[in-house]
Amino acid sequence: MKILGIETAVDETAAAIVEGGHHILSSVVSSQVDLHVQFGGVVPEIAARDHIRQIIPVIKATLKESNLSVQEVDALAVSTTPGLLIALLIGIETAKVLSYVFNKPVVAINDLESHAYAVLLENEELFKKMTNRENWPLLHLIVSGGTTALVHARFFGDFRVVGQTRDDAVGEAFDKVAKLLRLGYPGGPAIEKKAKMGNPKAFDLPRPMVHSKNFDLSFSGLKTAVLYKVKEFKKLEPQIVDDLAASFQQAVVDTLVAKTTVAAKKYNVKGIMVGGGVAANTPLREAFNAQIDLPVYFPVKSLCTDNAAMGAGCAYFYAQNGIFTKLNELKPFHYKNMRGNLCEY
Ligand code: KG4
Repeated sequence: MKILGIETAVDETAAAIVEGGHHILSSVVSSQVDLHVQFGGVVPEIAARDHIRQIIPVIKATLKESNLSVQEVDALAVSTTPGLLIALLIGIETAKVLSYVFNKPVVAINDLESHAYAVLLENEELFKKMTNRENWPLLHLIVSGGTTALVHARFFGDFRVVGQTRDDAVGEAFDKVAKLLRLGYPGGPAIEKKAKMGNPKAFDLPRPMVHSKNFDLSFSGLKTAVLYKVKEFKKLEPQIVDDLAASFQQAVVDTLVAKTTVAAKKYNVKGIMVGGGVAANTPLREAFNAQIDLPVYFPVKSLCTDNAAMGAGCAYFYAQNGIFTKLNELKPFHYKNMRGNLCEY
C-alpha cells in the first residue's frame, strides 16, 4: 500500500510517498526558514502564503522522485493538528481536492502521533517488532516547535496525551532563548552549537515542574530565568553566551529526562519513542540513552523536524483497517472524534 502524505502544519511545505508503512519512496520538504529568520520566529501569514506557492510544486516533485502518479497511490494522508490554522488549511484543502478529483480516501493525521512514528521509517526491523502488540505500551515524548507532550500509546491509533506543556513548547523555548542570546533562528541547532563550548553548570537555572505530581511541563519560566541572567550583564561576552546556552540546554535535558522517567514508570511502558525537531538534539539523545533504563528510539535526524513521510507512514495502520476521514470532517484541529473507539482522549 502506497500513501501520499501532505504536511503544511507550520513552516515546512512537504509531500512524501511511503510504501507499506515504513519504506520512503520519496520525500520532499520545502523549508521557509529563510522567510522567517528576520522575525526570529514563524509569522503565520507569511507561512500560509508560501505554502500556497509551494504545495503543488512540492507534490509534483515527490511524484516525480518516486516515478508515480496520484492515480497509483492508494490513499492520502494530511496533517490536521496541531499547527497554525491558516497553514494547516493549505494542506487540508489540497488533500480534499486531490481526494475528490482522483477518488482517493484520506486519513487525517495528528502530528503528536506521526512525529513518534518517524522512528519506524526506514527501520523495517523495528516496524515489524511494533506490529506485535506484545511490544506495547510505549511512551511518546513529542518535542517540537509548536508542541511538547507525553503520550501513552497502547498500540497504533490508541493513544492518550498524559502531559503537555502549560505554556511554551520546548522548541519554542530554544528559539526564544536563541533570540535573547542573538543566535538567530531556528534556535535549537544554534544553541546546541554554542553549548558545546560552554559550561552547563555555569548558571543555576530551574528544572520546571520536575517535582509536580502530574506529567505536565512548562518552559516559559526557564526562558524568563535566562532573560534575567542576560540582563545581569552589560555586554554579552562570547563565553557568557556559550555558558548560558549550555546551562539552558542542560536544564531542558534534565527536565525532559526526569518527567519521561516518571511517566514511563507509572504507565509501565516497554519503550520510549521521541519525536519532533528537538529530538535532533545530540545531548538530549545521549542523556535519554544513558539515563533511562528502557529502549529509547529516536528518528534519524532528518526526520525529526516536520516532513510528510511521518504522516504517510502513520496513515498506513488506519488505511489498512479502512479507517478514513470524511471530506466534510477534514478540518484544522478536527481530530479528536474521528477514530471512534480507537482513540482514547
Ligand atoms: O518539529 P518541528 O519542525 O516543529 C514544528 O514545526 O512545530 O521542529 C522545529 C523546532 C524548532 O523550534 C527548532 O529550534 C528545534 O525544533 N530544533 C532543535 C534542534 N533542531 C531543531 N532544538 C534543539 N536542538 C536541535 N538540534
